[in-house]
Amino acid sequence: MKTFTSAGELQQVLREEKSNHKSIGYVATMGYLHEGHATLMEKARKENDIVVLSIFVNPLQFGPNEDFDTYPRDLERDENVAANAGVDYLFYPTVQEMYGEEPSVKVVVQSRTDCLCGRQRPGHFDGVATVLTKFFNIILPDRAYFGKKDAQQVAVIDGLIKDFNFPIQLVAVDTVREEDGLAKSSRNVYLTEGERKEAKELYQSLLRAKEAIASGLMNTATVTSLVKEHIGAHTQGVIDYVEVYQYPELKPQEMLSGNIIIALAVKFKHARLIDNITINVK
Ligand code: PAJ
Repeated sequence: MKTFTSAGELQQVLREEKSNHKSIGYVATMGYLHEGHATLMEKARKENDIVVLSIFVNPLQFGPNEDFDTYPRDLERDENVAANAGVDYLFYPTVQEMYGEEPSVKVVVQSRTDCLCGRQRPGHFDGVATVLTKFFNIILPDRAYFGKKDAQQVAVIDGLIKDFNFPIQLVAVDTVREEDGLAKSSRNVYLTEGERKEAKELYQSLLRAKEAIASGLMNTATVTSLVKEHIGAHTQGVIDYVEVYQYPELKPQEMLSGNIIIALAVKFKHARLIDNITINVK
């Protein structure tokens, strides 16, 4: 595996790979890699000749009171995880390399953002779409891999790729979980021991809703209340949102039908955790 900090140097190497008709799979991350990220890299490894991983904590997608400065970083450890997962090229640019010159253009996302994390984090998805536009142009991948854990992000990237005609296939990968069901996340390290035990209840609350829907519950408001009650009864976390929408359009519906997403965000003392499940309601 070779690590690059210069966009120009990486581009040059990838241009050569392309001229030899190699397919390129791309995984974008902010580092502090865990098995969720590794699963994306392994899938990219199986489906492409070349795998490129980027690690960049993107300041543009963090709000002023969010954890940009304290976001966990550990390059040495990440290099090992990436090499073991079969990554060929690791791109690890500085903020200066990505945004050195005063930017004159940014990408603004117009739909699928006025709910879930988008509503709570104004400008967040503009930051995600802007940095990915840059990475897509630098790397020119054939396929790009993203986790369904961030289901709204997948919906936004789907729009970005279609609207801007990127010749890239979006591959959405199932959420990787700990044994007790907690979705793997770089932010889980911020949980206290007690919070970590409670955190499994987030997924449990989603499964409870899934069961209720399977046994005939079709009212969105009732499903939402069920999830909120479960979280309230089993954790000290503060609910940011529990919302149910059609997926991937993220449109509300009173009675459930078709592909839906049940998504939640819960704040613990030093970590805000998100999770979701998608269900096809017959
Ligand atoms: P980050 O949070 O590092 O996540 C990188 C990728 O890993 C995302 O596609 C995310 O959905 C996926 N991922 C994280 N946890 C996962 C899990 N438990 N199971 C499956 N996939 C998981 O998402 C970002 O970074 C950034 O917004 C980024 C896309 C890199 C743009 O800056």
